[in-house]
Amino acid sequence: MSDLNALIEEARLAFEQATDPAAVENAKARFMGKTGVITALMKEMSSLSPEQKRSRGAEINVVKQAIEALLNERRQALADAALNAQLAAESIDITLAGRRRGSGGVHPAMKTLERIEQIFSTIGFDVADGPEIETDFHNFTALNTPDNHPARSMHDTFYVEGGHLLRTHTSPMQVRYMQTHQPPIKVIAPGRVYRVDSDATHSPMFHQVEGLWVAQDVSFADLKAVFMDFLQKFFETTELTIRFRPSFFPFTEPSAEIDMAFTSGPNKGKWLEIAGSGQVHPNVLRSVGIDPEQYTGFAFGVGPDRLTMLRYGINDLRLFYENDLRFLKQFA
Ligand code: PHE
Repeated sequence: MSDLNALIEEARLAFEQATDPAAVENAKARFMGKTGVITALMKEMSSLSPEQKRSRGAEINVVKQAIEALLNERRQALADAALNAQLAAESIDITLAGRRRGSGGVHPAMKTLERIEQIFSTIGFDVADGPEIETDFHNFTALNTPDNHPARSMHDTFYVEGGHLLRTHTSPMQVRYMQTHQPPIKVIAPGRVYRVDSDATHSPMFHQVEGLWVAQDVSFADLKAVFMDFLQKFFETTELTIRFRPSFFPFTEPSAEIDMAFTSGPNKGKWLEIAGSGQVHPNVLRSVGIDPEQYTGFAFGVGPDRLTMLRYGINDLRLFYENDLRFLKQFA
């Protein structure tokens, strides 16, 4: 019997050393196959007496069952290991964050408009809104720019039927607001305007914010004070390089263009025109029935897109309208 027990131990070892199913099946053949050890033991029994056969046969059967049990155990262990390995490889990490819809952001041009509205509200300016398709009267005539006035050609624009046009500036809002309000008037009017223009500092559609203050004794000095105060709040610094450059607009007298120098970015040191401005022309006040002997005022039209360029050191205005997310995301 001891030789048989040794055989069980031998099989256990052989199965343990078999690390894949093919090796297990080879080991099985060594013990249970046609030319295997068990078959050989059975054959040896032919020389035994019937009694010895019975007891030896029973012993061999026990061994055979023991080896079979070891074999099945090993097969199962290898199958389990293979399954676990597969499950681990295919595992889904349910702790991984899901893919969300990206959250949108406010466009830099709109951010600037909101910021400008907020600053002017704090110093008592109303915010007004008007049509982008304007009448010739509001866009030009009431602004002291009659038919055939040469200043009209500076404002080449898109005309639509019925004597209407895409407004070339927000200045028609001066007229509309004064037609419906009495002095003292303090208002800004932000919005889109249109011109036949396209280069690094011009886009055929761009934004302006009109400012208008009409009351008794409002002077050019007030214009300078209000505008400088606004710029300092907008750029959050008093270190600004600004110049008021004498200029001409039919609807202001005297008139000035306001320039600001870039302090960063590739355009550092260059001047950029950011606004037109001046004292409201007496003819404009007359066209809306306000007595220029009693009231004076100033107006300005500032380009918020250009303020955004200066604030962030952007060198091409057209970037705002190309809808390139790599650009826009920087402001979200
Ligand atoms: N409307 C002028 C322009 O677009 C700017 C301006 C506004 C000038 C108000 C004077 C007063 O060029």
